[in-house]
Amino acid sequence: MVRSIGLPKETKDGERRVALEPSAVASAVAAGFQVRVQASAGVGAGFSDDEYKRVGAAIVSSAEEVWASDLVVKVKEPQDAEYKFFREGLILFDYLHLAAEPKLATALQESGVEAFAFETLTYPQGLPLLAPMSEIAGRAAAIVGAYYLASGSGTLLGGAAGVQPARVVVVGLGVAGTMAARGARGMDAEVTGIDIDLHRLYQAHMEGTVSSTLASSDSAIADAVSGADLVVGAALVTGAKAPHLVKREHIASMRPGSVVVDLAIDQGGCIETSRPTSLSHPTFVESGVIHYCVTNVPGQYPRTASRALSAAVAPRLLDLARDASSARIEGALNISHGKIVHPAVAKALAE
Ligand SMILES: NC(=O)c1ccc[n+]([C@@H]2O[C@H](COP(=O)([O-])OP(=O)(O)OC[C@H]3O[C@@H](n4cnc5c(N)ncnc54)[C@H](O)[C@@H]3O)[C@@H](O)[C@H]2O)c1
Repeated sequence: MVRSIGLPKETKDGERRVALEPSAVASAVAAGFQVRVQASAGVGAGFSDDEYKRVGAAIVSSAEEVWASDLVVKVKEPQDAEYKFFREGLILFDYLHLAAEPKLATALQESGVEAFAFETLTYPQGLPLLAPMSEIAGRAAAIVGAYYLASGSGTLLGGAAGVQPARVVVVGLGVAGTMAARGARGMDAEVTGIDIDLHRLYQAHMEGTVSSTLASSDSAIADAVSGADLVVGAALVTGAKAPHLVKREHIASMRPGSVVVDLAIDQGGCIETSRPTSLSHPTFVESGVIHYCVTNVPGQYPRTASRALSAAVAPRLLDLARDASSARIEGALNISHGKIVHPAVAKALAE
């Protein structure tokens, strides 16, 4: 039975989000849970310890004390230094992205943590705990893509009178891809959206989110990418390792100084040449192309991101704390009693 809920300070590089804002903590306290907040957990997002104290949280000074709670809710997957807090029966609720984190999966299995992932929860529909961060990461992708094109090929997204706008290709027109496309269109780029789901392409086409659409195939991606100034990777198969849709040779065909932003990097990346980068060191160059593959893009907008995440997480947190088998947290359970129980995650980690 869950009596206490812990809210740690995030430890991932550059991460300033917090999983619950004070109003969400107030709801948990009103529901009868003891909430322990690690000192300064909310400061990066503009929430002081006093604000949490005023709504009834206990402010604790150490990570040990907060992780001693029955249930720990946080934003990013635990970092190496946090593995020592794992123990049998601990309920963990956060982003896990285990398909790209086999070491974490093993640590969770061996310690007997009951691990629930935000990104695979499917109640009531879609991926409601992934969507708010995908929305923010998508918007950010257009901003950072435009920014790095300046130092790269020197291309301005909107072009100029007598000069064509930049060409942007978005692979995967879900929540993140749609927002990236909207952002790039907003800066007057020419945007091609690629997806395997024809209904999504139809919607984007009818709503004018993109300049053109392409049904996903290796040859369509090869053609589109070779003429692109900016490629955004945002394809997802829930729980699975991201498919390598943009191949090394596609990247090599791009103009030097072009940019790729692989948002799908948290699931391993949908661009073959991608590897995870951090907010401190966000880019590397491969085949002359600037790669931005940050795994916690929304962490650089902590106020907006924490509030959006908290609004989505808070009701599901109460469902989980009351009854870990609730239908309202369907799809979230990834690891239970030492076994990987989410089929797509299990398949990805077995490959
Ligand atoms: N890096 C970050 O900080 C960050 C932040 C938020 C989200 N993300 C990631 O962004 C990715 C996208 O998330 P989302 O919420 O937009 O997912 P989503 O489910 O809304 O969209 C994914 C899209 O990919 C499409 N797709 C699947 N297979 C495809 C294929 N073979 N070809 C083309 N399209 C294909 C799907 O049809 C769908 O439209 C995820 O990996 C998510 O974890 C990353």
